[in-house]
Amino acid sequence: MGAQLKNSKLKAPVPPRWRQEVERILITDAQLARRVKSLAREIEKDFLGREMVVVSLLSGTVMFLADLIRHLNLPMRMDFMGVSSYGLGTESGDLVFTKELRLDVKGRDVLLVDDILDTGKTMTRVLAKLQLLEPRRIKTCVLLDKPAHRQFDIEADFVGFEIPDFFVVGYGLDFAERYRNLPFVGVLHPHVYKEAIKRVL
Ligand code: IMP
Ligand code: MG
Repeated sequence: MGAQLKNSKLKAPVPPRWRQEVERILITDAQLARRVKSLAREIEKDFLGREMVVVSLLSGTVMFLADLIRHLNLPMRMDFMGVSSYGLGTESGDLVFTKELRLDVKGRDVLLVDDILDTGKTMTRVLAKLQLLEPRRIKTCVLLDKPAHRQFDIEADFVGFEIPDFFVVGYGLDFAERYRNLPFVGVLHPHVYKEAIKRVL
């Protein structure tokens, strides 16, 4: 299970540049750094020094992945799969694979990494696709878990943080490809996505 977010009285202020769009900071950069490091320890213990193939889903995992793998003291290779969900606004829509794996994972220990487990559709579809390649085993790792929104029967093996049902951005997570560069995980002001959805309807 992921770390629970404590309701800290000392709320980190949203930097002035982002105040119009980001309602509040849910996870600070310091909390992220600490948890990602301890997550790497958990993964190391599970892989027992065996070489792994890290399969990471584009593009939401970029910051998390960069931080996670620098703490993984294991032999590893790394590859990416491109998965896009063409939904409207904050709802997940149909999945389209935009980049296929290049490394052969047959007989290998795979660590599948994604940014957030929401309905579970992405993880379920990707796992089914990976299983066809006959890896020795697949373990799953997500930075964030939003259990309130689950529609598929799936849990991740390693979870950074369990979060409430908010639409979050930052630390790699986007809304319409924006806000990936924020160093924290923040809750987007609903007016941002409501206006964006109005524009396309
Ligand atoms: P799922 O397929 O519904 O589990 O959703 C997984 C994908 O939806 C993730 O890889 C994210 O790209 C996206 N997603 C789900 N919830 C959020 C969120 O709160 N913020 C940003 N992206 C999200
Ligand atoms: Mg996304």
